[in-house]
Amino acid sequence: MELLLNKEEKYIFIETFGCQMNENDSERILGILKRLNYKPTDEPYKADMVILNTCSIRDKAEQKIYSALGRLKKLKTYKPDLIIGVGGCVAQQEGEKLLRRAPHLDIVFGTHNIHHLPDLISKVKLNKSRSALTEFSDFIEEESFAYTYEKDYAKNLSQRVKAFVTVMRGCDNFCSYCIVPYVRGREMSRKSNDILQEVERLAEAGIKEITLVGQNVNSYGNKEEDISFAELLRAVCRADGIERIRFITSHPKDMSEDLIELFGEEKKLCRYIHLPVQSGSNTILKRMSRGYTREDYIGKVYKLKRFYPDIGITTDIIVGFPGETQSDFLETMNLIQEMEYDNIFSFKYSPRPETKAAAFADQIAEQIKEERLAILQETQRDITMRNNQKMLGKVVDILVEGRSKTTEGAYDNTINQLMGRTSCSKIVNISGGNAYLGKIVPVRIEKISANSLMGIMVKNREERINICC
Ligand code: 5AD
Ligand code: SF4
Repeated sequence: MELLLNKEEKYIFIETFGCQMNENDSERILGILKRLNYKPTDEPYKADMVILNTCSIRDKAEQKIYSALGRLKKLKTYKPDLIIGVGGCVAQQEGEKLLRRAPHLDIVFGTHNIHHLPDLISKVKLNKSRSALTEFSDFIEEESFAYTYEKDYAKNLSQRVKAFVTVMRGCDNFCSYCIVPYVRGREMSRKSNDILQEVERLAEAGIKEITLVGQNVNSYGNKEEDISFAELLRAVCRADGIERIRFITSHPKDMSEDLIELFGEEKKLCRYIHLPVQSGSNTILKRMSRGYTREDYIGKVYKLKRFYPDIGITTDIIVGFPGETQSDFLETMNLIQEMEYDNIFSFKYSPRPETKAAAFADQIAEQIKEERLAILQETQRDITMRNNQKMLGKVVDILVEGRSKTTEGAYDNTINQLMGRTSCSKIVNISGGNAYLGKIVPVRIEKISANSLMGIMVKNREERINICC
């Protein structure tokens, strides 16, 4: 260990695949490596260590990792001392097999083993020994969340306005298509005090928006007999300096009345919810083991919309689940039209190792999955566009998050395109100086497209004619 703490500066390149959980895990990985004197770099060529933080939710995501490993093999021929590590869900799923498949790979660490990275690195450095560690633990290794204590954490935040905070990990639901319970383990929640302390540190570092993340946030604290998720949200809303709070992901079966009521009570809680439905057909929902019916789901969404007509709602949908008939699919189509989602994240069903549905006999042909996905996405584009059209001319508050994607990397800094988000999570691009970063500003929506809105800042809040979000 001593050997690793030498003063020589080294660079780490972390490539993150997949969900917000992985993004937050990458922060923790970086925090640990900083203590070993590694500095982050965006250029793999400059790096002394490369870590792939991986996702295996669908086969396509998994295949991306093998392509990335192939590219790293070439890099290692030029840089033989480069240390290569693979973490996250593919690491958990494949373990030692990955070491056999990729002889240039040094370290494989599972989803519960981030805190063991210093030992694994030291084994490579001292003994040139390659290893895989994928043990599940039955407690959350709180020390790996200490990255926000880093001296330079705030310094690196110049363009960072928002942060994720993990509240729980793993899942006990075992939806029949999903690999998460196998690669992330059983549900486990962090202590509410630890979470609240982390939120305070982030607020002190200048963060304005917090997203609480977990596979199934609604069952936060159930096993640990800690406070409920609604109570946790309420406590986070009390944190000085934090202006906006979001959470992801909710399970429709566990979304409680007190959570629905909270949107009305807590001003900082964004009027936005991601509520994955997966399918509009009761037959398919049952085979997916989702634990709710189409009617239960619609009831919850209507309740939310009745109380908060301005709430932004998005969902996840899987098409081509085993046994999905044309009429099941039409029920999903009909559902997205009725729900008028702001956006959907839609996927072709992908059989995953160990899951129940992978063994179902009535798998759907790839071509049908593709056709259904294309129709679904085209219909949703129209719905999103119609929703966006309703925003034209309205004045809404946005939290300015950074430079707009269209001008990122542009070399003319005189015209600064910024992007921000409404409370209901719609992206708005505006012109303005960097001084607006991290500020909530009122803007009037002037133009719309399928993916974003364009607005101009209005001088005073009285100009706000129609408050949408
Ligand atoms: N095939 C396709 N999509 C999947 N998802 C999860 N597992 C699979 C799978 N095997 C989708 C679900 C989930 C989102 C994160 O990924 O829609 O909500
Ligand atoms: Fe996967 Fe279902 Fe758990 Fe979500 S609730 S992570 S879809 S098993």
